[in-house]
Amino acid sequence: MNIAITKTTAPKPLPESNALGFGRIFTDHMFVMDYRSGAWRDPRIVPYGNISLPPAAAVFHYGAEVFEGLKAYRRADGGIQLFRPMDNMRRLNDSAERLCLPTIDPESGLQAIEALLRLDAAWVPSAPGTSLYIRPVFFATDPDLSLHGIQEASFYIIASPSGSYYKEGLAPVCIAIETEDVRAVRGGTGYAKCGGNYAAATRAGDKAEKRGYSQVLWLDGVERRYIEEVGSMNVMFKIGGRVITPKLTGSVLPGITRRSCIALLQDWGIPVEERLFSVDELLEAIHNGTLEEAFGCGTAAVVSPIGELVYGEEHAIVNGQTIGPLTQRLYDTLTGIQYGTLPDPHGWTVRLL
Ligand SMILES: Cc1ncc(COP(=O)(O)O)c(C=O)c1O
Repeated sequence: MNIAITKTTAPKPLPESNALGFGRIFTDHMFVMDYRSGAWRDPRIVPYGNISLPPAAAVFHYGAEVFEGLKAYRRADGGIQLFRPMDNMRRLNDSAERLCLPTIDPESGLQAIEALLRLDAAWVPSAPGTSLYIRPVFFATDPDLSLHGIQEASFYIIASPSGSYYKEGLAPVCIAIETEDVRAVRGGTGYAKCGGNYAAATRAGDKAEKRGYSQVLWLDGVERRYIEEVGSMNVMFKIGGRVITPKLTGSVLPGITRRSCIALLQDWGIPVEERLFSVDELLEAIHNGTLEEAFGCGTAAVVSPIGELVYGEEHAIVNGQTIGPLTQRLYDTLTGIQYGTLPDPHGWTVRLL
């Protein structure tokens, strides 16, 4: 892929590392490519800026949009590396296929990320726990209100330096089990990373936040019984020495951190069960004292210990509201591999610079 590059003439000052939140500051450039007449065209890097679309563009009416989220990490030796980026590119295509969007050659997608990062390398922060969050996104641009197969689309990659998720250590979070709204059903778009899933999840998330909980834990959409995932993380429970995580039934996002945790647990000889796991079984484990640890896992937080679970009137404290040793070990190992301070026996990292 031949990427045309137009450099900004007005580079922005780099932000202080303590001013980085999440997703509000963007680097100097972005990658853009258009889909027309059956092919992706004009791959280019241009200064980060507003885009212009016809009001009739299909994305605004029918939500034909998919995205990804991955990070670039600054190594101690100054280098930059990505974590399992091809997994993100493949998941982007799985999402696109579900929404009848054109797919992208995963190698070209990675090449586009690499080209953008080479130009904006100075934006990869180096303070502990910080990273450059990379957001590939694409959507249908057909200026046509009739519902039909997509003919035109745009692909963007933007990047945002992000602060450390944990300012004061891995603080356990309180999670509310959602009993009214559902996020996804089998046969729907739950396994795809499409904007509509997140729009539909916002109401329950806002409600939980107002009640002082960090995120919601979703139950399956049919029986409202089986645990699926947390707002923006997959979820794992350590019960009686085994780790149980909901299996990927089509309504759960197949998280790359989830996949990595499972591989590490298997490396360590800890039994992992990917299966249907009901809220009754979870409550039983809480009541009989066999629930040892619970945590969410995802790109943003890496692993996030769950210290309290709320289900209706029931409030259950997990592991005395402290981070458990297995959750801590997973966090240390994953971040060690991501930042290059630990060996990477699975070959998950891709070194850029
Ligand atoms: C709904 C949802 N589940 C799970 C995850 C975790 O996925 P990953 O580990 O690939 O970041 C995310 C984050 O992308 C998410 O948005």
